[in-house]
Formats: sequence, C-alpha cells, structure tokens
Amino acid sequence: MMLLLIGSIVVLVGVYMLLVETIFKSSECKSSSDMVGKTVIITGGNTGIGKATACELARRGARVILSCRNKQKAEEAIKDIELETGSTDVVYMQLDLANLKAVRTFAETFLKTESRLDLLINNAGLVGDGRTEDGFGIQFGVNHLGHFLLTCLLLDCLKEAPSSRVITLSSMAHRWGKIDLDALVANKDLGTGRYSWQFFLAYCNSKLCNALFTHELAKRLKGTNVTCYSVHPGVVKTELSRHVSLWQMVFVDPISRLFFLDPKAGAQTTLHCALQEGIEPLSGRYFACCTVQEPCSNATDDAVAKKLWDVSERLCGLSDTS
Ligand SMILES: NC(=O)c1ccc[n+]([C@@H]2O[C@H](COP(=O)([O-])OP(=O)(O)OC[C@H]3O[C@@H](n4cnc5c(N)ncnc54)[C@H](OP(=O)(O)O)[C@@H]3O)[C@@H](O)[C@H]2O)c1
Ligand SMILES: *[C@@H]1O[C@H](CO)[C@@H](O)[C@H](O)[C@H]1NC(C)=O
Ligand SMILES: *[C@@H]1O[C@H](CO)[C@@H](O)[C@H](O)[C@H]1NC(C)=O
Repeated sequence: MMLLLIGSIVVLVGVYMLLVETIFKSSECKSSSDMVGKTVIITGGNTGIGKATACELARRGARVILSCRNKQKAEEAIKDIELETGSTDVVYMQLDLANLKAVRTFAETFLKTESRLDLLINNAGLVGDGRTEDGFGIQFGVNHLGHFLLTCLLLDCLKEAPSSRVITLSSMAHRWGKIDLDALVANKDLGTGRYSWQFFLAYCNSKLCNALFTHELAKRLKGTNVTCYSVHPGVVKTELSRHVSLWQMVFVDPISRLFFLDPKAGAQTTLHCALQEGIEPLSGRYFACCTVQEPCSNATDDAVAKKLWDVSERLCGLSDTS
C-alpha cells in the first residue's frame, strides 16, 4: 500500500517535471541592449503578454506606442507601466484591428505624428466567435489580416530606420492549423462554425497565417535593414481565454494555476527577438523559449505563403485585381 502511494507520487512528480520542461517551459531574454532613442509600436499592449513586453521596453528607454482599441484600458496600463519603470514616454494611439479602415487611420496618424519606427510588435490576438467590421472571421481578421495591413502600411517607415524589426505573435497552436484559400475567398474566413472547438481551430489557422506571413515577409525584406520573426510565447496565463465557456474554464483554470507562465515570463521570447544582437540572419524564422525552433512544415511552405500574401493584399484592398 505504502509502496503504491510512493510509486504514484514519483510518477506524478515525473509527469509534472516533464510538462514543466516541455510545453510549459520558461526562458529568459539575456540581451542587455537598450532602446534609448527608439520607437516601438505594440498592438494590444494594454494587458497580458503585450503589457509585460511594453513594460520591459519602456524600462530600457524606448518610446512605446500602445496601440489598443480601448482608451480607458490603455490609459490604466500606461499608468501601471510608468509607475513601474519611471518612463514618461508611453503613449496611447487608438487601433481597432477588426476594422481595416481604422487600421489605415492609425497608420496615417502614426506616420504624420511620429518621426521613426524601429520595432513593430504584432501582438494583439483573440480566441472568439464573430465577424470583423469588414465581415471577416474575427480571428482571421484581427490576428492575421489587420496586422498584415498594418505592417504593409508601415513598411516604408521601418525601412528608413537604421535597423528595424517586425515581430508577430504566432503560437504553437499553428501546428493544428490549415489554410484553405478557396474557402477563405468564399467565406472571408479560415474555418467556420459556432462550436468552441471550431473557433479554436480557426484560431490555430490564424496563428499558422502569422508564421506564414513572417516567412514571406522575410523574403520581401531581403536587401533591406528590416528583419522579422514569429514567436510562440509559451503557455501563458492571460485574458486570452476570456471568451471560452465556463465549463472549459473549470478544467483549464486548475491547470493554468499549476503550469501556465505569468505574463512577464511570457514576454521573454518576444523580448529576445526585439533585443538580441546578431539574430538578423534568422529573419523569417519561428522562435520559442528564446531560441529559433522548427515550426511545422506547413508554416514554411513557400507556395502557400506567397498565395496567402497575395490573397491578403486583395482582401484588404492593397491590390486591385480581384
Ligand atoms: N496566452 C497564451 O498562452 C498564448 C499562447 C500562444 C500565443 N499567444 C498569443 O499572444 C498574443 C497576446 O495574447 P495574450 O495571451 O496576452 O492575450 P490577452 O491577454 O487576451 O491580450 C490580447 C490583447 O489583444 C487585444 N485585442 C484583441 N482584439 C483586438 C482588436 N480588434 N483590436 C486591437 N486589439 C485587440 C486585446 O485588447 P482588449 O483588452 O481591448 O480586448 C488585448 O490587449 C496573441 O496574439 C496570442 O494569440 C498567447
Ligand atoms: C498542412 O498539414 C496537414 C497535415 O499534415 C495537411 O492535411 C494540410 O493539407 C497541410 N497544408 C495546408 C496548406 O494547410
Ligand atoms: C543598411 O545599414 C547599413 C549600415 O548601417 C547601411 O550602410 C546600408 O545603406 C543600409 N541599407 C539600406 C538598404 O538601407
């Protein structure tokens, strides 16, 4: 009896340690670079991983533009960040990624009022159900298409900086993603359905888009001083599951308390890609745990990446061949 008990405890501890060393592994950005004189845009910086990232960049002297959809939430976050870091250079600029016209307005305002851009962090994202203002599936629309347009509109400005970077939050969930471009053109969405597992799959598809976008962007940026990276931040306790139904929370909550990273730990890989010197030759690659990793083979498919780019251009009106 005693032996059985000890045996079970050993197994449980073993499983716990295995999980902590794999899916729930944490890492640390070791770079000591500073960001003095540099300007950063971070989307969805009012909470979660984005807020923790903004905080560290502000601490290192960056001018940080929090581009969020909710003014009040953004101003509260700015107060917290300024209190914690002593920075007085964190500003709010309205951006709703679920509205392509609003993305254009944001870019125009930014280009008119700011003099440079050194780092764009496409961080905002959601798991949820519904459509954007323009009728796209909300996850495809916000997680991919809004950021796609934003990046394209800011590219010339990024190219003017001596050395600049674009970081896009993907996820290990991209591994379950699929890209059906015909369905995308027909439904304005990648995956449909109203069950939560269906919009989870749509989330995975959007995160695959994030990795493919980065893969293609790197090619288009060859010969410039702009590089780009996609990131899996780890499994992090944030507000990301806020739209997930109650019964799922009952299961997820205990696991998240035991295993999930806090937002500060969840910001480390983004910070690594933002700050680490010498990673420029790895432009276009996928990072997790502060190192470059292999994404699934679908995320580096040249032909799909190019087609997704072309379709995205058409869907957000950057090219007129429809
Ligand atoms: N947490 C994880 O375990 C995990 C794992 C893998 C990847 N990621 C990725 O990490 C990124 C950050 O997620 P998080 O976990 O920090 O989630 P979060 O706490 O829910 O934060 C998401 C941010 O995105 C913003 N956002 C949502 N819809 C928007 C819109 N239409 N326009 C502008 N901003 C919008 C939110 O603003 P509001 O507060 O106004 O809603 C919020 O600031 C996401 O791209 C996510 O896919 C997270
Ligand atoms: C991605 O991988 C899956 C499984 O390996 C496959 O069924 C799918 O067709 C692939 N391609 C795309 C573009 O998603
Ligand atoms: C990139 O940076 C280098 C060194 O800082 C500079 O000499 C070069 O002109 C830049 N290239 C472009 C395309 O701006």
